Amino acid sequence: MDYEQAKAKLEQLGQTHLLRWYDELSDTEQEQLLAQIDELDPELLEIFKNKGNDQERGKIEPLGALTIDDINENRARFEAAGLEAIREGKVGAVLLAGGMGTRLGFDKPKGMYNLGETRPLYIFECLIHNLMEVVDKAGTYVPLFIMTSEKNDEDTREFLEENKFFGYNPEYVHFFMQAMAPAVDPDGKILLEEKGRIATSPNGNGGWFKSMMRAGFLGLLQREGIEWLNIFAVDNVLQRIADPCFVGATLLSGCDSGSKVIAKADPEERVGVLCLEDGAPSIVEYYEMTEEMVKSREADGRLSYNYGVILNYLFQTSHLVDMVKNQMSVHIVNKKVPYIDDNGALVKPEEPNAYKFEELVLDMIHMQKTCLSYEVVRSYEFAPIKNATGVDSVETAKELLKQNGVTL
Ligand code: UTP
Repeated sequence: MDYEQAKAKLEQLGQTHLLRWYDELSDTEQEQLLAQIDELDPELLEIFKNKGNDQERGKIEPLGALTIDDINENRARFEAAGLEAIREGKVGAVLLAGGMGTRLGFDKPKGMYNLGETRPLYIFECLIHNLMEVVDKAGTYVPLFIMTSEKNDEDTREFLEENKFFGYNPEYVHFFMQAMAPAVDPDGKILLEEKGRIATSPNGNGGWFKSMMRAGFLGLLQREGIEWLNIFAVDNVLQRIADPCFVGATLLSGCDSGSKVIAKADPEERVGVLCLEDGAPSIVEYYEMTEEMVKSREADGRLSYNYGVILNYLFQTSHLVDMVKNQMSVHIVNKKVPYIDDNGALVKPEEPNAYKFEELVLDMIHMQKTCLSYEVVRSYEFAPIKNATGVDSVETAKELLKQNGVTL
């Protein structure tokens, strides 16, 4: 895109202020700015004007789970089916590591955080260690796709290469970068983070399959016959990845997808709950639940909305290909975004000043016909690191790692 084309596009969108300092920029900066303008998705600005494109919620009903007892009774059968699929190369894993991890306040990619006390023990290392247990059991590597963003791609790759992928065979590791989205002020004006750079941030974790396709991995998935993808977050250091029992249970259930869930610790716990919405699986966030839903109990005394998601899902590749043709909900989130003011000075806001656009992986669940709700033991599989201290923090995760026999 050249200057004239960029100007015309911005005039249409009411965003010509982005070219205010164009003449002061070096040739490279000008080129980079034009490329960013070329990539701007006009649809996002339209969505902002209409205050989001979230659909009205349908009829919400509880969804139970395959409980830990059910799973234990069938463990041998589930594991055998899962291991067979893994050995046949039908299962891949996708690590969502494109987030900014702002709550942790660590200036490197979250996976590089060192949890060790007597030795280095990085978050990435914990995850790869867990996956290696499956590799050892199955006798074959599981293809591992790692999603980064342009903010952390270089650091992530360098770190994993320097650490020799913590023993994982690099031939089975594939990186791809997620897309970025611009930040806007309350009037919908796109912000600049430098005179020649639009303020952008990763566009949420829901665009992962689109980004994987854009990076050209659909061919590989089809060629290698990878029929299932296990999506997981970077921050849960205890989670089991490509867990044969979960894979087998999902396959044998005949469901389109699977989600690991935990029984809520208390009715008010702040987790998204796997439910049914108009008969299809769906996740309702804790802040969307009514008082009545929070307190409702089944005949056996269990909470009706009992099963919280932990961002560990199984999706079928063939369904994902169809799904990306549909527009996903774009969530508008209010955040602190540093920006250049009208005088060209950098402002670092103390309070949320801008809006970002995010697609969320949890919305993909409602695009499935069925989802196996698969309960896991929380003290063994759930140790998320969102904050430095307090709830879901470095402190709580370290404690849980120790309880699981990991030397820190
Ligand atoms: P979170 O919702 O915890 O977001 O991500 P975050 O960006 O890591 O952390 P905060 O909110 O700024 O503190 C859940 C998972 O989704 C990934 C994260 O890396 C994490 O594994 N994610 C999130 C992405 O891959 N891309 C995104 O744009 C956002």
